[in-house]
Amino acid sequence: MVKIAVLGFGTVGSGVVEVIRTNSESISRKAGKKIDIKYILDIRDFPDSPERHLLTKNIDDILNDDEVSIVVEVMGGLDPAYTFTKRALLAGKHVVTSNKELVATHGAELLGIAKEKNINYLFEASVGGGIPIIRPLNQCLAANEITEIEGILNGTTNYILTQMIKKGKTFQNALQDAQEKGYAERNPAADVEGHDACRKIAILSSLTFGCHIDSNKIHTEGITKISLEDVEYAEAMSSVIKLLGFSKKIGDKIIARVSPMIISKEHPLAGVEDVFNAILVKGNAIGDVMFYGRGAGKLPTASAVVADIIDIVKNIDRNSRMIWSTCEEEVLIDIGETTSSYFVRVKTDNKPAVMELITKVLGDCNFISIQNPKTQDEVAFVTPEKKEKELQTALNDINNHSFVNTVYSVIRVKNE
Ligand code: NDP
Ligand code: HSE
Repeated sequence: MVKIAVLGFGTVGSGVVEVIRTNSESISRKAGKKIDIKYILDIRDFPDSPERHLLTKNIDDILNDDEVSIVVEVMGGLDPAYTFTKRALLAGKHVVTSNKELVATHGAELLGIAKEKNINYLFEASVGGGIPIIRPLNQCLAANEITEIEGILNGTTNYILTQMIKKGKTFQNALQDAQEKGYAERNPAADVEGHDACRKIAILSSLTFGCHIDSNKIHTEGITKISLEDVEYAEAMSSVIKLLGFSKKIGDKIIARVSPMIISKEHPLAGVEDVFNAILVKGNAIGDVMFYGRGAGKLPTASAVVADIIDIVKNIDRNSRMIWSTCEEEVLIDIGETTSSYFVRVKTDNKPAVMELITKVLGDCNFISIQNPKTQDEVAFVTPEKKEKELQTALNDINNHSFVNTVYSVIRVKNE
């Protein structure tokens, strides 16, 4: 029998308990031992829960109990999750988590402690909810040099964009739905401003490139500026708008970013809708491989957490090696040096003058129009491939002309 403690009895924590209870027989068979939940730590009381006899508010009950060999941290946030995790690892207890903020920030240190203690710190649920991605990268694709990762890494924003595109819902209504379904972070700004996807691409990049990529240094844009008109323009281009995390190895450097992208409906990520996530990985032996599934929600996330628990029970006496050290030098390429095409809208009273100016400053652009009265006083276009810093200089130049009112809605366009 292996005894575990669950820290946090919210969406994911209650899902973990439910999955262990519901599938207890098959889980024990696969793990080779029965898994018994000895404690649940939460600051709240759950007087009506059938699990209330397991509840504690004191972390020391868990850390001082030698019978507990696995701690499941599903509280979220940095503190006290970091302190509890570190203390648990130092006490020789394996830790499983879904907390990407903690993994992205302190992953290298916590994995280092786990290695030293010959135990495990596993975090399959921290990226892509229920989708297996961390273990495939570390095991099934271990023979490859991973050169590129691109994906829809946030369920909440993908749900919001899908509702805006398919149902014409407003941003606020779609966000409220996602919160009610348990997809959103406690502070939904983490989702809609792109920080959650940024932490996930930082985790994937750190694992695949073997050294810590600081999520604070990754260029990150969310979806708060995306309007229904932008969605209509994308439709006119036979495309959709998706929030994508991207990471690519170029020599010994890395490009990493999170931003909305306009992608063709033909692209494999275009059809990924609602709470689903998908991650495209390029390996030098396998070529392209795509992972797809539910990226958030109680039971899908619990599925990944419980799989980590089973993995630990099967390997209780050894550390599964994960390479994530600190980087010797800065590996991230400055966003200004990276290249893309861009969709841009310019408000103006003089369309012919603006079109002439744009062609002069940016080269041959593809002008697009839609039948929407709200867009009558604007010119919209897609630029040729440009370095970001060149685009910024050009847009500043365009903005300085008296016949230009504002330049806005600058969205990257994926050409391949
Ligand atoms: P919830 O807010 O639903 O659950 C967290 C629980 O932990 C709450 O009951 C909370 O209580 C409790 N808690 C918070 N601080 C403490 C503390 N100091 N001591 C004891 N209990 C505490 O969050 P989720 O379950 O949605 O998310 C948990 C983690 O999993 C987060 O890191 C999240 O990013 C991640 N995750 C979430 C997914 C999802 O779909 N929801 C998917 C993948 C990962 P209270 O509410 O009173 O603060
Ligand atoms: N808020 C996150 C999302 C939860 O919507 O993707 C899963 O990590």
